[in-house]
This record gives sequence, structure tokens and C-alpha cells, in this order.
Amino acid sequence: MSSKNLGFPEDFLWGGATAANQYEGGAFEDGKGLSLCDVMTAGSKEKCRQITWINKKTGESGFIDMKKGSSLKLPEGAELGVIDSVYYPSHKAVDFYHRYKEDIALAAELGLKVFRLSINWARIYPNGDDEIPNEAGLKFYDKIFDELKKYNIEPLVTMSHYELPLNLCTKYGGWSNRKLVDFFERYAKTLFTRYRGKVKYWLTFNEINMLSFGSFVSGGLTDINPQTIANAALHQFLASARTVKLKYEIAPEMMVGQMLGYAPIYPYSCKPGDQIAALDKARNAYFYSDVQVGGHYPNYKLKEYERTGVTLPLENGDLELLAAYPSEFIGFSCYGSACASNDPNLQSGKGNVIRGIKNPYLVESEWGWGIDPHCLRIALNELYDRYHKPLWIVESGLGSQDEIKEGKVHDQYRIDYMRNAIKSMRDAINLDGVDLRGFTPWGWIDLISASTGEMKKRYGFVYVDLDDEGYGTNQRLKKDSFEWYKHVIETNGEDLD
Ligand code: BG6
Repeated sequence: MSSKNLGFPEDFLWGGATAANQYEGGAFEDGKGLSLCDVMTAGSKEKCRQITWINKKTGESGFIDMKKGSSLKLPEGAELGVIDSVYYPSHKAVDFYHRYKEDIALAAELGLKVFRLSINWARIYPNGDDEIPNEAGLKFYDKIFDELKKYNIEPLVTMSHYELPLNLCTKYGGWSNRKLVDFFERYAKTLFTRYRGKVKYWLTFNEINMLSFGSFVSGGLTDINPQTIANAALHQFLASARTVKLKYEIAPEMMVGQMLGYAPIYPYSCKPGDQIAALDKARNAYFYSDVQVGGHYPNYKLKEYERTGVTLPLENGDLELLAAYPSEFIGFSCYGSACASNDPNLQSGKGNVIRGIKNPYLVESEWGWGIDPHCLRIALNELYDRYHKPLWIVESGLGSQDEIKEGKVHDQYRIDYMRNAIKSMRDAINLDGVDLRGFTPWGWIDLISASTGEMKKRYGFVYVDLDDEGYGTNQRLKKDSFEWYKHVIETNGEDLD
């Protein structure tokens, strides 16, 4: 059966997504400071990523496993830092820093209308608390935006995608410290003033709800508990509201959006206990959008704080600020769905930010993530019904191992995944009337995996010749999916065959 159907809005923004820490490299160039990811090693499916520490006095060094929810216990006298002999994927990544012209030309050939990238905060403010920005860092992004402009590609910029300057973690305890609200505001002001006219669409914090699951990478927290997570969330909400306020003052034509990690939550069965489990689980993500987009703390969260003894460090005017300056649109990632149950004995599944019980109806990717052909339509409807704000899918995709055979990568599995994803979006627009503005599939060009630090977990339409230790020619090669996606964009999503 042909997959032709009603198409997408004429001005629909087809694109691709990246993030500095996984794509850019150039970790020590032109005055950039260290950011969180620069002290994270590579891991694998079996072995979690580690964070490294050094003791400058004794010369000792070591590793700490990145385990969900556990605080980082550093030996006395140690601080987070880089060990010379260790491979860190973010340091070189896939070298967009030096290859941006080639990559942007490829993006143009693919037909991208929007290119999602993040600005590495530590490139602009190397220590995060500096008074003056690093001009060389600002110039780098000028070059990127000018190059994109040459091809009429719109940038979509994430201001913080796991790239907190390391100093803000070690000196201030990350986002649990209210001072970071001011530092972020200074950073946002610098970006808006400098790039006004070049960048229209901004996202503040990548997958803001990651604070609850990946508190180090997302919030720079080393002391991890419900109170520090609540503080960090409040501070990021305040920073987000101040950023929206700033944009009205500096460049009202710009749009500042939230970025949420999302997965529709399915009750594992029709058992009422499973419904309650699903309600609770969905609220883990909704809490973040209820505040950042809805403008107020929801009662279910306040009750939870009351029960668990968490107190919000609110100051005068905070709640008014949150209500006055909500995010203007929702950008979200969605790689699948998650199941919830009140039965503790069920086997858990794997997935992106939100993990649940293994869903027996889904085929899984090589990394165990359930492949759900309908998750985007469901996600779009749930978010639109709740907030009535414009939506962008700023990440989705299939991480898989690709093989080069006679100079080609035949990635039919990726085409199949994408076809279902786009059909699902198309249904949400045409059948449900959801206001979806753009789609930037994750890693349109292969880059480093965030969860494992591997290179072999590939999402791209473009193959990059590098392995898990960073060896290879770094050459770019178009996969079969490149021509397919190009055709999808040319037909504005009408022809997915
Ligand atoms: C999202 C992140 O959680 O998922 C990206 O915003 C990440 O940074 C993407 O790369 C895919 O996850 P992974 O672990 O397969 O790279």
C-alpha cells in the first residue's frame, strides 16, 4: 500500500539535530573551558560511563561510575578533572569544530531547513562565572550561523545540552546553587545580543526532566538527593523564565522553547493499580512542563514535596516570574514509549530518559530500546491537549550499528523506523489537528552516544568513519537513508516510499 497521504504544512521545518558535546570536539581550542562531558569516559552497553578525578597535590587519579541517583564520592583532596592517558569522547567527538563547512554543505544537500545544534556554554564563558565572554568562542558560532545562512538553513539552538562549565559544578555545586540563575542569565544575554538576527529559535535546557535521572550530566549535581534535585529544578525554571523575559527585552521576534524528554506512558495492563502507576510515572515529565510551560507548580508535586520533607528555596517574586514568562513552545525528544505497573516483579525495559517495564508488543533496537511506531502521534496529542502550545519534535531516531559494504551503508532499518515516525507525525497533524512546526531527527550525522559514549551507536543519515576509541579517517559517507530523507523533504513528507 502506498504511504501517500495528506502532507505537512507548507512551511514545515524539516531538519536534523546535534549537540556540541557529542559533535563538536575542539575541547581545548580557542580558550574553551572544561565542561561536564569533558571528564566523562566512554562506556558501552555493558559498562556505564565514568567520571574522572585527579588530585593535583599527590598526582593520584581515578574513576567514579555514573550510576543513576548516586552522589559522587570523591577521595579527599580530589577534584573532577582530565587524566592525560584516558580517552574522552567529547574532546574530539566527530570534529564539527573543524569540519563545519563540509557538514553544513552536506546538510544543505540533504535539504535540511533547520539545523539543531547546541552552544557549548564553556566556549563562551570558560568558567561559567567569568565577567567577560570569550570572543573566540563567540566568533566560532558566528561562523556557523553565517555558513548556515548561506544555504538558508535556520539554526535551532540549545543553550545548555549537558555542557555546564565544569567550574560551576566543582565550585558551586551545579544547579542546586541559586547563583547559577544569574550566570545563565548573563550567558543568555550575551547570546541574544550577539546572535540577534541570526538565530530565531532557542531551547533552554536539553531534556530538563533529565535532572531527575541524570542529575550530574543535566544539573552538575554531585550531591544527589530529592532536595538538591528540587533546588536545581527551581533554579533552571527561574533561569528559563528570565531568559524568556530577556528575549522580550532584546529581540521579541525570537522564540524560546522548553526541551523535554518525553515518552508516552502506557499502563502495563488494565488493572487499576497499573493505571495509577502510569499516572504517577507520566507526572515525572509533566512536572517539568507544568512549571516551565504552564507557569505554576502543580499540586501533585507540592504534595510530594510535603510528604518527603522537601522545601522549595523560594524568594520573593519567584512564583510571579514563573507565571509571567513561560516557554513559548515545546520541543521534545521521543524515542519510544514506556510501560508502568505496580507489580515490582516485572522486568524493566531500556530506553531514553524515561524507562519503564518491558513492553512485550514491541520489537527492540540493538540497545534494547522498544520501537513504537505510534509513539510520536500519541506524544504530540498528549502534549498538545495539555498545553495548547506549538510543538517541535527535536529528537527521535534509531541508534544502530551500521556496516559499510563496498563503500555503501544499506540502512533499510533506519528508513523503516523513520517512515513510521513520519507517518505518526503526519497523522497527528492531519487527523488530530496538532500544531507541529518542525522535526529534527537526532544525530542526522553520526555522533557520540550520550548514554554510552560509543561511536558505534549510530543515528545518522551520514556515516562518520570513527570507532569507539576515536580512531578512523573521520570521513563522511552518505547512507541509503540520506537519499530517502532527502526525497521526503523534497515532497514535504507526502511520499515516504
Ligand atoms: C537524548 C539526548 O536523550 O537522547 C541526546 O538529548 C542523546 O544527547 C539522545 O544522544 C540519544 O541517546 P543516546 O544515548 O543513544 O545517544
